[in-house]
Amino acid sequence: MIRQTALRHCPASDVEVILRANTTSPSKKVCAMDLVYRPRRLRRTAAVRALVRETTLHPNNLIYPLFVKEGEGLREPIESMPGQFRLSVDEVVAECLEVWDLGIPAVNLFGYCDKKDALGTEAFNPDGLIQRAVGAVKDALPEICVQTDVALDPYTTHGHDGLVVDDEVVNDESVEVLCQQAVSHADAGVDWVAPSDMMDGRIGAIRDALDAEGHTDVGILAYSAKYASCFYGPFRGALESTPSKMDKKTYQMAPENVREAIREVQLDVEEGADVVMVKPALAYLDVISVVRDEVDVPVAAYNVSGEYGMILAASEKGWVDRDKAMMECLLAIKRAGADMILTYFAKDAARLLSD
Ligand code: PBG
Repeated sequence: MIRQTALRHCPASDVEVILRANTTSPSKKVCAMDLVYRPRRLRRTAAVRALVRETTLHPNNLIYPLFVKEGEGLREPIESMPGQFRLSVDEVVAECLEVWDLGIPAVNLFGYCDKKDALGTEAFNPDGLIQRAVGAVKDALPEICVQTDVALDPYTTHGHDGLVVDDEVVNDESVEVLCQQAVSHADAGVDWVAPSDMMDGRIGAIRDALDAEGHTDVGILAYSAKYASCFYGPFRGALESTPSKMDKKTYQMAPENVREAIREVQLDVEEGADVVMVKPALAYLDVISVVRDEVDVPVAAYNVSGEYGMILAASEKGWVDRDKAMMECLLAIKRAGADMILTYFAKDAARLLSD
């Protein structure tokens, strides 16, 4: 219904009259404006606001990334990521129990490697750090969904996600190694592997390699639209994985492109991805939204280390409220279309949500 909504002329003295009348008889207000639609009706009380809420965040939507390091009883603070730690396997297990109790269904493990070489051989060592961590967590807490990063950057001296030959990150040879890495994680008992390398054809190749080894139940969370972003800086500090030369622009996507993201996502779905991911999240909310419309598989988004750091830094300066900024950003990522969010805020957000 459209009704004329002209604002009646209302001199200052009348405003006072109206205010006084409305205070005396609040149930029958004198209206200065003839409005049919008053959107504020749906914002009046907390109960009404709860009824009309379009997006809700739940601990079940969160995935907590963890950094694993060799040692025992180790909780080493990560300088570039305040509040996050490099944990030894026993501490990872303890952390997973806490995470699970908070209602967070999944963790994503990254390995800090001190045995780096040019070929990243430690990445697929059956007794390697990540492989042992996966085994230990699944022994202690079989229900939790354990995910592992599949890429070579923490394991190579050059810090690239694939193999480097003559200053080029080579594709097909890298995929071979990534398949071995994924299978070694599956052998250790991982639920999902998460290839973050952005090599062409790796999702299909990893699917085949897993299936050939009988790991048909192991899922693939594909970093499908992963951009060459400055927001990974703090993470690279955590794993000492900053590339020693060349950048990652020959495999990670250009921030200018969104049609290309659709293409990447479609390819990964065709190749067998169970879940597709957009990364980073906050500067790429439009990409999340487009991807959500494009595919039927679940969509994940990675609220990356630099996004985490920006909120911490601004709150330290007193410019934003840490918890409110965190919740608003996570909600934005969910609203854009992400079903699940990898975030260093997972535990803090889950605590707030259960209060
Ligand atoms: C490695 C990988 C990176 C991140 C996740 N997996 C870094 C990179 O691609 O350089 C970044 C995560 C973050 O910044 O929180 N393949």
